This record gives sequence, C-alpha cells and structure tokens, in this order.
Amino acid sequence: MLRTGQWAMCRSPPFLLVAVGAAGGRKITCACRRDAGRMDMQQEIDDAGGAPRPPNRRAMLAAFGGAAAGAVGLAGTAPAFAAPAPRPDPPGRRFQGKTVLITGGTSGIGEATARAFAAEGARVFFCGRRAGLGQAVQERIRKEGGQATYIQADVRDPRRLRRFVDETARAGGGRIDIAFNNAGIGLPARPIHELDHRDWENVHLTNDRGVYLSIKYEVPHMLRAGGVIICTASWSTRPGGAAYTAGKRAIMGIVEVAALDYGDRGIRVNAIVPGTTDTPFVRPGGLSDAMWEEFKRAWGPLNVNALKRMAEPWEIARAVLALSTDEFGYMTGSAVEVAGGPPRGGPMVMPPGFPGPR
Ligand SMILES: NC(=O)c1ccc[n+]([C@@H]2O[C@H](COP(=O)([O-])OP(=O)(O)OC[C@H]3O[C@@H](n4cnc5c(N)ncnc54)[C@H](OP(=O)(O)O)[C@@H]3O)[C@@H](O)[C@H]2O)c1
Repeated sequence: MLRTGQWAMCRSPPFLLVAVGAAGGRKITCACRRDAGRMDMQQEIDDAGGAPRPPNRRAMLAAFGGAAAGAVGLAGTAPAFAAPAPRPDPPGRRFQGKTVLITGGTSGIGEATARAFAAEGARVFFCGRRAGLGQAVQERIRKEGGQATYIQADVRDPRRLRRFVDETARAGGGRIDIAFNNAGIGLPARPIHELDHRDWENVHLTNDRGVYLSIKYEVPHMLRAGGVIICTASWSTRPGGAAYTAGKRAIMGIVEVAALDYGDRGIRVNAIVPGTTDTPFVRPGGLSDAMWEEFKRAWGPLNVNALKRMAEPWEIARAVLALSTDEFGYMTGSAVEVAGGPPRGGPMVMPPGFPGPR
C-alpha cells in the first residue's frame, strides 16, 4: 500500500502511474482501475467532502514525488526529445483498392494504423468493442478522405469475430489483402500466486486466442490470392506480468507456425513488436497533456536505449504499412521490433529525484 507522498510505477504491462500525495492541504489519491479491459486513473480528492476534480500539475508532481520532488519538478531533469511530426503527405497510394482488416482499431496503434492505411487508398474495416469510439474513428477517417467501416466485434467471441471477418471479405469482393491482428489488453501486475485464473484467461482469450481465431477466420479469404497478416506482440517481461508476457510470446509462436503453414500459399505472417508507445494503454486517465508530456520527457532517456523517447502510435503504424508492402515480400515468420533501440533489460527506471518502482 502506498503512503501519502509516495509514488510508484504499477507493474502492469507496460506500466501505469500510481500516485498518492498531499497538495494544498488536500489529500490526493490516484489509483489504477481496470474496467472492461481498460486502465483508468481514478482520482479521489479528500477535502472535506469536496467533489473530485482533475489534478493540476503542481498537485500531481507533488503526488508523484512528494513535496521535495514536486518543488524540483521534472522539466529541468531531462533533455527534451520530441518525436518528429508525422509527414503530412502520405508517402503514396500503396494500398489503393486493397481491403485491410484491423482488430482493435478503436484506439491507439490500431486507430493510427487504420488512418494510415486509409490515407494510402485502402478500404479499411476495423473492430473493437466500444461502438462510440469505433464510430468516431470511422467518422474521422472519412473526413480525412479515406474509406473506413467500423464493425463492432469482440475478439473473445468467435461468432462475432467470424462475422466481422466474413463481412470484411464480402465487402472486399471475396478477399482480404491485409490483416492486422492488434487487439490486446493488459492486466494490473500481480505475482503469479496472486493472479486470479479468470484474469489470466481473459488476457489469453483476448491477446493470443484472439490472434489464433483471427488468423483461422482470415486465411480462407486469402488462400485464393495470397495476403499479409501482421500481429501485435510484445517483448514486455515485467514483474507481475506473467499473463501478458505469456500471451504476447504465444503470439510469436503462432506467427512462426502460421508462416510455415501458409508460406507456399502466398500468405506472409509476421509479428510487429512495439516498444512502449504513447496510447491509452499506457497513459493514465486524468492527466493533462502537459503533465503527460513532462513525464514522458523524463522517462524516455531512462528507458529507451537509443532514441530516448516513447514511440508515437503513427510510428508503429508506419512500420505495419511498410511490412505489408512487397518491399518485404521475402519476410515471413519474423518478429519485427520497433522499439527505439535494443532492449535495455531489467525493470523500468523512474526519473531522477523520484523513488524507484516498488
Ligand atoms: N502501447 C504500448 O506501449 C504497447 C507496447 C507493445 C505492445 N502493445 C500492444 O499493442 C496493441 C494495441 O495497444 P494500444 O497500445 O494501441 O492500446 P489501446 O489504445 O488500449 O488499444 C487497444 C485496442 O484493442 C482493442 N481491444 C481490446 N480488447 C478487445 C476485444 N476483446 N475485442 C476487440 N478489440 C479489443 C481496443 O478496443 P475496444 O476497447 O474498443 O474493444 C483498442 O482498440 C495491444 O495488443 C497491446 O498489447 C502496446
């Protein structure tokens, strides 16, 4: 249990902030919450019955590091390494007329990939559970001049998943050219003996069985004309992350075997392995953009060997698009790391002046 003034990184893969502190005479508690597979920052402000309010920067810094670290701040502790802005002009129309299927396209990496494919002429069909987000992403892509259709489906539900895949193929004239099997969830960190088997099962139903079923249903629509399948894996190995780590490694195994199964049918199957990427998967809810940017600036140099910063979702998307082209026609059964450098190994490091992870 954290005490007032302490903070720590939650050991959920990849990570999540947890902060407890006191600022301006008010007690602030921020805790992880997992709801329908998502993580949110839950904030309670105990100021004699006052209503919860969004955290301000000073309060959050104080909460992250206690009074001393809050006074020092993060800004002066690390150089600013910014991601280059995405090129406004897509590199071309490489996917004109192609049918692209994406699982987990309502947010983060999947959303960025859907937008990138659509910007290059693909007809994109994507799923996710949250219809509101799905429709908003669909709307955004159409406003950007692309073609996208959201179909609600949960990858844990074989019937709904199959319907999503079959509807995509029907709209694509009987074929799917490219499938990006990306849907995934994390889990609050727990050592194995404390891990509830239902949580274990939920992660595996989503992350690796979801990929197995996606491939199972996609391949029949690729056997005639070939295709490309890319699955989102991870090298994450963190204390308390057994379910996530096992599921993501299982995806690499599935990818290798699928490459062998379908290599002579013109279907290439690869895994993309993102490093820590700035998506809702890792960003706690309730943080202002400025505070999140500040944290990222301090975190990157300590945790990303070469490029010293988190990835932006569009950077992972660009790699997925590249792998989908014939430029990589001889690559199959591979796990392609897009992680800003060789793995650092060991636990995540916290910015200086702050207590380390528990
Ligand atoms: N961000 C990172 O640092 C990082 C690093 C390595 C690997 N990854 C992997 O990258 C993938 C995308 O994650 P992200 O970072 O983009 O996080 P995100 O923004 O939370 O996106 C996750 C996506 O998966 C979908 N999803 C989750 N459970 C689903 C289910 N049962 N059925 C259908 N869709 C489901 C979500 O949609 P709904 O909630 O609407 O269902 C959402 O679209 C995941 O597989 C994750 O493990 C992420």
